[in-house]
Formats: sequence, structure tokens, C-alpha cells
Amino acid sequence: MNFNNQYALLRNQIKFMQWDITKRCNLRCKHCRSTDYYEGKQGEQIQDLSTEEVFQTLDDLAKNGVNRIHFLGGEPFMRPDLLKIVKYASTLGIVCSINTNGTLLTDEIIDQLFDSHVYLLTFSLDGATPETNDRIRGEGVFDKVCANIRAVDRARKAKKRYLRIITSPVITKVNRHEAKELCYLAQDLGLDSIILTTLRRKGGAKENLQDLGLTLSEELDVAEEIAQLIATGFKQHIQLGIGSPLNTEYLNKKYHINLPISPGGCNSLKMKGFIQPDGALFPCQELTHYYILNQKKKDIARSSIPKQGFDSIWNSQNYVDLMQKMFNIDMKSCNTPCDRCKYIVSYCYPCPLPALRNNGTIHHESCMETLRRAKQDGIELLKDEVIPADFYAVVQKAIDDFQFRTDLLLDLDQTLRKNNMCMNPKEKEKMETLIQTIFKRLHEKIDQFARTEVDTHEPIS
Ligand SMILES: C[S@@+](CC[C@H](N)C(=O)[O-])C[C@H]1O[C@@H](n2cnc3c(N)ncnc32)[C@H](O)[C@@H]1O
Ligand code: SF4
Ligand code: SF4
Repeated sequence: MNFNNQYALLRNQIKFMQWDITKRCNLRCKHCRSTDYYEGKQGEQIQDLSTEEVFQTLDDLAKNGVNRIHFLGGEPFMRPDLLKIVKYASTLGIVCSINTNGTLLTDEIIDQLFDSHVYLLTFSLDGATPETNDRIRGEGVFDKVCANIRAVDRARKAKKRYLRIITSPVITKVNRHEAKELCYLAQDLGLDSIILTTLRRKGGAKENLQDLGLTLSEELDVAEEIAQLIATGFKQHIQLGIGSPLNTEYLNKKYHINLPISPGGCNSLKMKGFIQPDGALFPCQELTHYYILNQKKKDIARSSIPKQGFDSIWNSQNYVDLMQKMFNIDMKSCNTPCDRCKYIVSYCYPCPLPALRNNGTIHHESCMETLRRAKQDGIELLKDEVIPADFYAVVQKAIDDFQFRTDLLLDLDQTLRKNNMCMNPKEKEKMETLIQTIFKRLHEKIDQFARTEVDTHEPIS
């Protein structure tokens, strides 16, 4: 992410939508979560929106402050109008990214990418070799995706255009032995980043759990392996979508590395939503049918943006009530070891659905395992009072938290102290420059506004 984008993120109130823009796909990956939504009787009733309906939905989203969309599916490039959609969204000021299996790109489509103003392409790779990747994604897929990634990298260099390209493999039993090789491959393919993610027990993953599912401890083993690779000074940018802030701190201390501890966790309905191919709007991918409140099932209505309008769904009593329930939980008292953890709420807001179910205290097994490992290694985790934060983490927190954002602009040092955060001098200098830039632009805007006001006043006489 470049400096200007960070500025834009910090200035605006973000509303981020994940949008399955089509239910159609040319592949049938073993782990795919989408079969849960788009197959069977319920799936048959979901139809893709027409181009016109997508445009109408985009108008509505932009009007309601949505400024970031990540398109997924199905396979987004199954829609011949995909880049037309992205281009239209960009004219409305919406920054778009696409998650793709990477098999349907042609030279012509690659050319059009740059005209569409797509900001980021996430290519799916689930193995570092054809044997492993294709066991999950299907025969011949690995070679096609790698060729297309290289073609996009060549094109962006030739055109000198900024287009971020990354990959986000899902680590499973099938590919865990190639986790490190995936990082080498990302480097060889010229990708800007690799985000290693974990399997969600949905759709194909649920059906093939025996063949795919890792235990939490095995997932943490993979995280440790990657931390060791980072400790060697390996240059490729790697993000660990495995583990929690506590786990990242553990890896940093154990391997003497500096992975960013970024604020994260649930943001559904506050600044994030999930849209299905027929335009139905939901809080997140886990909340599309019902949720359990105090052991009672509560249905979630299927309401479509082009029919009902974004505002009437997002601000419906049902969704406002649900959001309040999700964010008014005393996370400390119902989660362990979060009750002793400095990251809770301000840096880590674990999925609130188990707490709504009211099944008693929730144990965060992966953090419990991290604490067990830390104890064995003689590493102290729960005692530190100050969280080391880099520039990106502070920006993320500012996006998430209005009060923090306001305080930060007024007094950087005091705000960091109040939030138990510390920044190294270089990172802090970057932050100070950003704050100054914001004020400078704000003053320019005010001047410009004042001038327009004066200019447009009718002469009195
Ligand atoms: C559902 S796919 C849709 C976009 C596109 N077809 C693709 O494969 O990238 C979006 C991303 O979700 C990932 N994914 C699918 N099923 C998953 C699951 N059960 N758990 C975690 N990630 C999953 C895919 O690997 C892919 O990176
Ligand atoms: S993961 Fe993507 S490419 Fe694979 S079946 Fe699902 S939607 Fe299709
Ligand atoms: S212990 Fe709880 S609050 Fe702390 S990092 Fe783990 S899940 Fe987050």
C-alpha cells in the first residue's frame, strides 16, 4: 500500500464490501467454501445480477459511503463484464480488488486490467508444485496460473503502471509441506506479497475435512516454520494469516523478527459487509442464514440491495440490533486467555458469534497453545504493557476507531501512550509526516472552500 492510499484510508470512514460477484466457476477446488452458498436447492435460487443491476447496486453503495470492494465468487472472470464493473466502480471513487483463480486471463484481459483501475489482484495458488496445487485446484491449473501471473507482472512493468499482485494460499494437510516453497515461488513469480491463510470449515472443506484439515497446533507449526524463514533475512514480503496478535508477538520474540502486530478481528456491520451474487447483503460470510442467540436460532432475512436499497438493509432494526449485540460483549469476561491479554478489544476482537451463543467461557485454543509453547521456551507474553506498533498498524487502528483517529491527529505521543502503544523513531517520523500532510490538505481544502464561497456570492449591489 503506498503512502497516498494510506492517507486516503485514514481520511475517509471506510466501508468495505466483499462481493461474490458471480456464483459461476470453471474450477471445482476441493476446499471451496462457495459450494455451501451456491449449490443445492438454496443455491439454485441465487442468480447473478445483470450488468445494469450491478451498476445500480454500485451507485447505491457509493452513495452510502462504500469505498472499497473485494470481488470474489465463484470466479469473477466468468463474467465478461467484470472489468467494466470495476471501471464503473472506480469512477464512483470505489477502490476495487479481485480474487481470482487466475485461469481465465488472456492477453486482451490483462491489457484491460490497467484501464479498469483495479488496485489489487489476489491469485489463488494452493501448492508450490503442479502435483500439490492441482490435487486441490484441478489438473493443469498450476501451470496456467503461474504463466498468467508472470504475464501480469511483465505487463505492469512494461506499462510502468501500479497494480499490486499477491497470492493467498490456504494451508491444508495437502500443501503444508510446501509452505516454505510457496514463499520461494511467490518471489520467483514477482508477487508483491504472500498471505498464508487457514482453512474455514465450510463447503468442500467441511466435506473433505479428513484430507484437508490441520489441527491448530499443526497450523502454528507452519507459522513457526515461516518465521524461521523470515529470520534468515528472506526478502519476499510475507504475511501470516495464521495465528493471533499474541502468536505474532511470540514468533517475534522467539525468532528475533519484526512481524507487524496489526489490529484485527471482527468488524462486520461496523465497516464491513458481504454481498452475494444476487445482491443480497449480509454482515459476513459466517452470517448468511441464521445466528444463535442464547441458544435460540435467529433467522437472517435475505434482502437484496437492488430491490430493498443498501441503506434500508444496513440500517434495518435487525442489523443494528445484531451489531449492538456483537459489539457490546464483555470480551474479557467470556474469553480465555483473552481475559489476561493486552490485545483484547483494542487490537483483537475475536469472532463474537460463540459469545452470542452463550455457551460459557470460550477458550482460544490457538492462543492457549501459543502460551504453552512460550512457557516451554521461557518467553514471557502476557506481562508486557506496551504494544510495539508500526506505521501500518497505527493506520489500521485509526481506520477502525474514530476516537483513536481524532486523538491521533491532535496528539500523537499522548494517544500512543493512552493506547499502550509504542513506535520506533523511524516509524513515528513517518506517522508525523502523514499527520502534517493531512493538516496541510485540510487547510488547502478550507482555503479552496472559502474562495469558492466568496467567488459564488452574488454581488450585493
Ligand atoms: C472462494 S474463492 C473465489 C475467488 C476465486 N475463484 C479464487 O479461487 O480465488 C476466494 C478465496 O477463498 C479461498 N477459499 C475457498 N474456500 C475456502 C475455505 N474453505 N477456507 C478458506 N479459504 C477458502 C480460495 O482459496 C480463494 O483464495
Ligand atoms: S476456490 Fe475459487 S476457483 Fe476454486 S472452486 Fe471455489 S470459487 Fe472456484
Ligand atoms: S488471547 Fe484473545 S485477545 Fe489475546 S491475541 Fe489471543 S484471541 Fe486475541
